[in-house]
Amino acid sequence: MNQLTSYLLPLAVTIVLLTLQWTIVAPAIVCSKGCTCQLNNVDCKYLSLIRVPDDIPRNTETLDLSNNKISSIGNSSFGNLTNLLTLDLGENAIKVIEPAAFYQLSSLDTLVLSENDIDELNALHFYHLGSLTKLWIMENPNLNIDINAFQNLRSITEIIADGNLITDNYDFSDLVYLEVLQLSKCKVRKFHSDNFRRLTNLKKLNLSGNELTEFPVDILDDKEALEELNLAGNMITNLQRYDFRNNPNLIHLDVSQNDIESWKVLSLEKPERLKSSDLSYNKIQVLPVDLLKNFSPLLFLRVKMPGNPIACDCHLKWLSELPDQITFDARCETPFVLKNYDVMNLSPDSLRCAPSEKKGAALFRVVTYGESVTLSCPVTGDPFPDVTWLYHNQSTALNIPVASSSVRPSIEGNKLFFNLVTFDMAGLYICNATNDLGSVKVAVG
Ligand SMILES: *[C@@H]1O[C@H](CO)[C@@H](O)[C@H](O)[C@H]1NC(C)=O
Ligand SMILES: *[C@@H]1O[C@H](CO)[C@@H](O)[C@H](O)[C@H]1NC(C)=O
Ligand SMILES: *[C@@H]1O[C@H](CO)[C@@H](O)[C@H](O)[C@H]1NC(C)=O
Ligand SMILES: *[C@@H]1O[C@H](CO)[C@@H](O)[C@H](O)[C@H]1NC(C)=O
Ligand SMILES: *[C@@H]1O[C@H](CO)[C@@H](O)[C@H](O)[C@H]1NC(C)=O
Repeated sequence: MNQLTSYLLPLAVTIVLLTLQWTIVAPAIVCSKGCTCQLNNVDCKYLSLIRVPDDIPRNTETLDLSNNKISSIGNSSFGNLTNLLTLDLGENAIKVIEPAAFYQLSSLDTLVLSENDIDELNALHFYHLGSLTKLWIMENPNLNIDINAFQNLRSITEIIADGNLITDNYDFSDLVYLEVLQLSKCKVRKFHSDNFRRLTNLKKLNLSGNELTEFPVDILDDKEALEELNLAGNMITNLQRYDFRNNPNLIHLDVSQNDIESWKVLSLEKPERLKSSDLSYNKIQVLPVDLLKNFSPLLFLRVKMPGNPIACDCHLKWLSELPDQITFDARCETPFVLKNYDVMNLSPDSLRCAPSEKKGAALFRVVTYGESVTLSCPVTGDPFPDVTWLYHNQSTALNIPVASSSVRPSIEGNKLFFNLVTFDMAGLYICNATNDLGSVKVAVG
């Protein structure tokens, strides 16, 4: 111990002296030609450099080489810069990066390679970057990211890779610390939920502007930390069973510009923190009534839905009970008289439905002589339709030619009542249900 101390002490003195000497004798710190050095930050941006300078100070921690004309990165480009924490190579013309280019940069925390023309990145490039937390590689239009490229980035928390080519089955599941994943405009057609397993720290997932026709909902099953989800600008038609049950921290949701036809499935079981949701420019006809279930009274939510063909009919009566904190930004498409009306300004009376047959309710039945029978007209409508009865497609069923007028059927509300069935009553009865908006005929029995 003693020996070590006595050895270290003079060394410390020397360092102090040296530092003093530098400050007094050579106030201009030695810096790479043309660059600006401050502390351990070296700024070489906008210098029209065509290669990485070889005189960058060894102790450099932040190196900004962005906005130059560098076209390739060699194995030894950064060989001496073992202290480097941040390396910005954005907005150059880099096409090729040799596999060992970053081998000495085991302390590197942030690597920016965006807006270049890099051909390929694979696992070798990132092999020694076990400390890297942020990787920005967006806008390399011809970049193929190898399927195993990221597997050694054990500390990575943020990957921004918009505007590249990502294979459909890229597996992110080893990147357990990942919080931000941006893969917009990567021409992805399909994501497999297995490839997102174990990303339990994911907070922000941006898959906008891809070519997804579906989004496997189980991707989100274990994403309790998720705060932002962006699926805008894909071709998703259906978000089946998607209810956010396992994403209680979701704040922003954007599924605009897809082909979603129904939001009913997006039932938002637990929208505890949701602040904005953008559903604009889809094919949704029905407003999400389920949104009101379990809705937190502390929440304010604006649901953006312009550009959807909203049907403003009796199914929207619940709008009048909408809590003040929820606003729908949506306009009616149908009926014609309400076209372009703001859904928030509709009076309940204007929300009507033409008569329609209740599915599966019509029935044909066999009855025996002497029975009494009631036929109901299985229709709905708002206002509730007036009902008339036809027999064999002719005028009113009340005038059917029966032997005795005492057994003629009678009308009770929208029902046709037969006190006593006789043989000459057999045949087809049709009810004709009508309100202001139209009429429907249903064959009953
Ligand atoms: C690394 O340091 C050696 C020795 O000081 C020097 O010859 C070489 O040019 C340096 N390389 C780079 C890329 O800075
Ligand atoms: C760069 O390093 C890799 C891996 O060590 C090696 O395969 C490759 O040949 C090297 N390239 C050059 C030009 O030395
Ligand atoms: C997602 O990516 C798109 C396109 O790059 C961008 O416009 C949008 O702001 C991003 N959204 C979020 C939430 O980061
Ligand atoms: C009832 O009448 C309509 C129009 O008059 C006709 O189209 C339809 O086929 C008829 N139905 C039956 C069961 O006769
Ligand atoms: C159904 O009822 C409406 C209203 O009473 C009437 O205008 C219409 O002609 C009826 N349709 C038939 C087929 O009887």
